[in-house]
Amino acid sequence: MIKALTALQPTNFFHIGNWFGAIEPAVALQRDHKLSMFIVDYHAITVPQKPEELRKNILFAAATYLAAGIDPKTTTLFQQSAVSEHTELAWVLNCIAKVGELERMTQFKDKAKGKGESVSMGLFGYPVLMAADILLYDTEVVPVGEDQKQHVELARDLAIRFNRDFGETFVVPVPKIREVGARIMGLDDPMKKMSKSAPSAKNYISLMDDADTVVKKIKGAVTDSGSEIRGGNDRPAFSNLLAIYSLITHRSVEAIETEYIGKQYSDFKGDLAEVLNLWLAPLQAKIKTFVEHENDLKAILNEGAQRAREQAQRRMKQVRERIGVAL
Ligand code: ADP
Ligand code: TRP
Repeated sequence: MIKALTALQPTNFFHIGNWFGAIEPAVALQRDHKLSMFIVDYHAITVPQKPEELRKNILFAAATYLAAGIDPKTTTLFQQSAVSEHTELAWVLNCIAKVGELERMTQFKDKAKGKGESVSMGLFGYPVLMAADILLYDTEVVPVGEDQKQHVELARDLAIRFNRDFGETFVVPVPKIREVGARIMGLDDPMKKMSKSAPSAKNYISLMDDADTVVKKIKGAVTDSGSEIRGGNDRPAFSNLLAIYSLITHRSVEAIETEYIGKQYSDFKGDLAEVLNLWLAPLQAKIKTFVEHENDLKAILNEGAQRAREQAQRRMKQVRERIGVAL
């Protein structure tokens, strides 16, 4: 089976962009891939986190994966920080990565904007740690959203460079970008992707938002001018809202547009909030049940970490030999 690997940062509750861009595609991959799915807590601390919140978010992340249908018997589900080989390999890769190529990473440029030289070294080296995550496990495909493609390409470049300089060691991974819904845009600004780290919570629908909040956020979502409920290149807001509707109901955008011919924006928004809430309610119940059984959750993560560690240790031993530090 093809080896796939993906990960999410536990920086807040996940939103529907994370769900359609990362979680749902990963769950589908389980059918015909050997999957590793983990919680990148050491990536999360590249920007300040409150320890108690981080701990809670890690548990919610694990619970969300399980509620989504990740099967911990076949998928290796674990916490990044539990397998220290990730940071160890990241250090070795730091020594072959170039400052210039990291400076070109668009996510770093975005996150560092206006902060001058006060951003953490961790944020700068973030893509190198991600490359280590990927390369430790002979990963062949990395399912991610469009915004992470550049990072996976860096992992490829580092694998190729290491193999060239020290001998064939790493599998060169390929990114797998989901076509439809790969990029859900912000409700308050359809030109920017929906993001947990957006300045306003009006930007996203969190998987844990209650029904009233969903109604308020959808009502308040930015719309395009005019009066038609129609997507298209000139209509970014409706393209986004229709994409969300379509992903949740599994109906085509065209069919939804046809249904709403002659109707008001408020009709559409009311219905969209309703389908979102009907979809969220059972999911939230499942997530909460997993979180309430914290010891079971921890046991699942520990078991996953043990499996991951065995592979990671083997690969790291080989890396130490190749670079000449093993005596
Ligand atoms: P966020 O910006 O919300 O913090 P992350 O950068 O942690 O999200 O991304 C986690 C995963 O979710 C990645 O695979 C990313 O590509 C995907 N993702 C994030 N935001 C979106 C979005 N708006 N639409 C689709 N996928 C997304
Ligand atoms: N940087 C990714 C994100 O923000 C998370 C991540 C870390 C990741 N390591 C990874 C994704 C390895 C895929 C594979 O979404």
